[in-house]
Amino acid sequence: MTPMIELKQVSKRYGSVEALAPTDLTVRQGEFVTLLGPSGSGKSTLLNLIAGMASPSSGSIFVRGVDITHTPPSERGLGMVFQNYALMPHMTVFQNIAFPLRVRKLAKAEIRRRVMDVLEMVRLPHLAERKPKELSGGQQQRVSLARCIVYNPALILLDEPLGALDKKLREQMQVEIRRLHAQLGITMLNVTHDQDEALSMSDRIVLMNEGRVEQIATPNELYRAPRTAFAADFIGTANLIPGTVLGFENGHTVVSTPLGPLRGVSGDTAPANGSAVQLLIRPEYVRLRAAADAAHDGVVQGSGTLDDSITLGSVVRHHVRITGDRQIIVQQQNDRAAGVYTRGDPVVLDWAPENCLIIADG
Ligand SMILES: Nc1ncnc2c1ncn2[C@@H]1O[C@H](COP(=O)(O)OP(=O)(O)OP(=O)(O)O)[C@@H](O)[C@H]1O
Ligand SMILES: [Mg+2]
Repeated sequence: MTPMIELKQVSKRYGSVEALAPTDLTVRQGEFVTLLGPSGSGKSTLLNLIAGMASPSSGSIFVRGVDITHTPPSERGLGMVFQNYALMPHMTVFQNIAFPLRVRKLAKAEIRRRVMDVLEMVRLPHLAERKPKELSGGQQQRVSLARCIVYNPALILLDEPLGALDKKLREQMQVEIRRLHAQLGITMLNVTHDQDEALSMSDRIVLMNEGRVEQIATPNELYRAPRTAFAADFIGTANLIPGTVLGFENGHTVVSTPLGPLRGVSGDTAPANGSAVQLLIRPEYVRLRAAADAAHDGVVQGSGTLDDSITLGSVVRHHVRITGDRQIIVQQQNDRAAGVYTRGDPVVLDWAPENCLIIADG
């Protein structure tokens, strides 16, 4: 099937600032893709180039196989939802949603039917006659979403539409948008700097850093197999230990680290002997025990003292100081059988080498 969006070597410069380095990206029809990255990483720039609000310095943009690089925004047939709802204050909810249909000169009865349909979809039919200022932030966001889906665009671009909402409302809207996505089969390209939002909503995530695509992957791939230390650190919590590759042994890569030699697995490309790497160990992969308990089996990768334990409800996070300036974060189920530890306790850590991912450094 023809991709919904295809970017070929698209870049954007503002004077001396390279807001977006030459970028290739393909979004499939019906896919939900999120652009994720820190502030200033080029997310809005990329979205605006697709929407036609800015024109690229180089490269070509295709939507359903058609080159739209130089097509005016209004003729691209895309919907866009912004962070600030941009509703017209003097119009009612109904009139706001009807507006794009009036512009397209649809018959009055058809307009009414379609507006009431989308109001059902965003669960607001009872508020049709209100003005935007009489609505909560979440309700206004639903209206702007409704105004966008009412004319059936094949592609919707969302630039941090949930940024202004509180956590609870944001989570509700995330579910709502996913539901609409599934129900209507619209392709959605969403921008956020909230990793939880990206992980929970997306079919794929485009992780951006300083105007470049760092990695494109499914949420699970990005979490389990980040290709760079930046990606490892941006998604979830990462224990990263620097080291140098010593060699290979029984399917594992052996790395010299400040904790002594450690074993791990490397991704697609094995790093060469002597190369600088980072070892990634996620907190939930680390087992923590009292130093005295470990004396019997001797399976230990690190030892230290407990700096702190924080209960987060279902899980407990332990901060273990393994060297003067280095901590390892351990996450355990808040299981009644788990040991109870006190600050200052000597503890030992271990993990399976399969759960220690070796990432090329730099
Ligand atoms: N119109 C412009 N003129 C000059 N520089 C710009 C312009 N728009 C964006 N930039 C620069 O391009 C870079 C990328 O900006 P962009 O808005 O794409 O970031 P972003 O990832 O959306 O960040 P945020 O999460 O803060 O919205 C930044 O360094 C920004 O200052
Ligand atoms: Mg932005």
